[in-house]
Amino acid sequence: MTQDEAKREAARAALKFLQPGEILGVGTGSTVNQFIELLRPHVADIPAAVSSSEASTARLQALGIRVVDLNEAGTLSLYVDGADEVNRHLQLIKGGGGALTREKIIAGAARTFVCIVDESKQVRALGKFPLPVEVIPMARSYVAREMVKLGGSPELRRGFTTDNGNPILDVHGLEILQPLELESRINRIAGVVTVGLFAHRPADLLIVGAASGIRELKAAG
Ligand code: 5RP
Repeated sequence: MTQDEAKREAARAALKFLQPGEILGVGTGSTVNQFIELLRPHVADIPAAVSSSEASTARLQALGIRVVDLNEAGTLSLYVDGADEVNRHLQLIKGGGGALTREKIIAGAARTFVCIVDESKQVRALGKFPLPVEVIPMARSYVAREMVKLGGSPELRRGFTTDNGNPILDVHGLEILQPLELESRINRIAGVVTVGLFAHRPADLLIVGAASGIRELKAAG
């Protein structure tokens, strides 16, 4: 099974959590793109979606799904999104696609966050994947220096601005042994918009696509 096929199978397994008549939260990335494509036969059951990026919005609208603002939608019953890394507590690194801020907002506003990944995303400790940090433009160098103090090597994501108009620092070399503490600590730095560490709001359910089949996991106790 290729990685793309594994992503597709994970996306397919998430379809059973759709709740007809409810506004759906939709994330960003190649795994979510497969999920959106698989929504085609379910479009009539989805009154609207809240999207975490302009890219996902375009795909949803191309299917004929209305995309609404989160303020209009209120609490969402389901949010489906991918991840760059996931540990056994279903804490995540996200933001490889740059949509971390809207993703964290929608995850926070959702009752259930279903994360869909292929098995390459499962890790013992988060941090091999560079940790994305979205920053206010004037704070870029300051936040980078603060990341160095935390033991990381920040790198500006070249030629990229988020849908919110901000740059991203990708922070290499962090072995994240205390995700809750690190998320809080980075959040406290002035100029940080969002860190792509989802520890305080982890996924509720992880669906892993693998050659051996689909695995559905809840957070380890
Ligand atoms: C985008 C994300 C994505 O969920 C993450 O990058 C995973 O992407 P993919 O499904 O393409 O592997 O956080 O900001």
